[in-house]
Amino acid sequence: MDALVTGAGGFVGKYLVQELLKNGLHVGACKLPKEHVTIQSCEVLDLDINYQREIKNLLEIYKPKQIYHLAGQSSVAVSWKNPELTIDVNIKGVLHLLEAVRSIENYYPRILLIGSSEEYGYLRENACPVNEQENLNPANIYAVTKACQNMIGSIYAKAYGMGIVMVRAFNHIGVGQSPDFVASDFALQIAEIEAGFRPPVMQVGNLNAKRDFSDVRDIVRAYILLMQKGCAGEIYNVGSGHAVAIQELLDILLELSRESIIIEKNPARMRPADIAVMQADINKLKSDTGWQPEFSLRETLQTMLNHNRKNFGIL
Ligand code: GDD
Repeated sequence: MDALVTGAGGFVGKYLVQELLKNGLHVGACKLPKEHVTIQSCEVLDLDINYQREIKNLLEIYKPKQIYHLAGQSSVAVSWKNPELTIDVNIKGVLHLLEAVRSIENYYPRILLIGSSEEYGYLRENACPVNEQENLNPANIYAVTKACQNMIGSIYAKAYGMGIVMVRAFNHIGVGQSPDFVASDFALQIAEIEAGFRPPVMQVGNLNAKRDFSDVRDIVRAYILLMQKGCAGEIYNVGSGHAVAIQELLDILLELSRESIIIEKNPARMRPADIAVMQADINKLKSDTGWQPEFSLRETLQTMLNHNRKNFGIL
């Protein structure tokens, strides 16, 4: 097997598997037993990252040359509600994977670990665009688990000479993302209003935060390039390099909308703590891989909105 993707039942995993298949690779897509995933020309395998024995069995059978570790609890909002699950899946999960790899004789796959821009957390003034050397100052449990995951990756790369490359992914969006996340949520609300399923009032949270948004299709191309060309033991920011206020993202969607919509701030959508600005310095990614984004934020939001419209039969 050329490439194994853990968390292939998730939002990013599905795009990554498709891109790997397009590149002609023999791919294994690991999903949770409860998930339904049908991907043609690919081995779909059940795997719960909390069971190390299962991971080892699977690796022993398929010996994938590359492992993309996407399995994780990916929502900051959910981590406020369920910190224990987030710790179990994100920290113990990576340990299970790396220990399983290490326990197999003469097996040296390349491994990509997906961390997050949230690891940087509370930044110094003027630290943005933030580069990989910046001190980490996580502001929530999700961020702590991703920082911890990448630290574990660094330790295993140095101590055991494993081919582990680590990512700090900034916000990425696209069709199929859960409405737990802001762009998906807003695009869904607008389509529901247009379809007459809800009154023309949108619920929003903190619109002042600035985030670095990319299209998920650009992000998975960056992951594949990092798997091929990234330096083992190194961490790479993956983002657009631009910061956009959530208000600006909302404004683009409102411009694309067919209705006149009232905006209502909902205190339940505010977080106990929220980073003000997050913007990536992507020089290292670009110089080591030659990666360039292809999709503009507007194009991505238009695609997401149209997808919902199609689902509601109004496109
Ligand atoms: N979800 C949500 N819903 N967020 C809102 C809303 C709303 O109604 N209104 C404003 N926001 C703000 C949040 O407060 C936050 O500042 C910003 O929109 C982005 O929120 P999310 O889309 O939920 O993403 P996130 O930044 O918390 O986390 C995502 O990006 C990380 C990388 O920065 C996830 O994809 C993580 O997995 C990823 O690591």
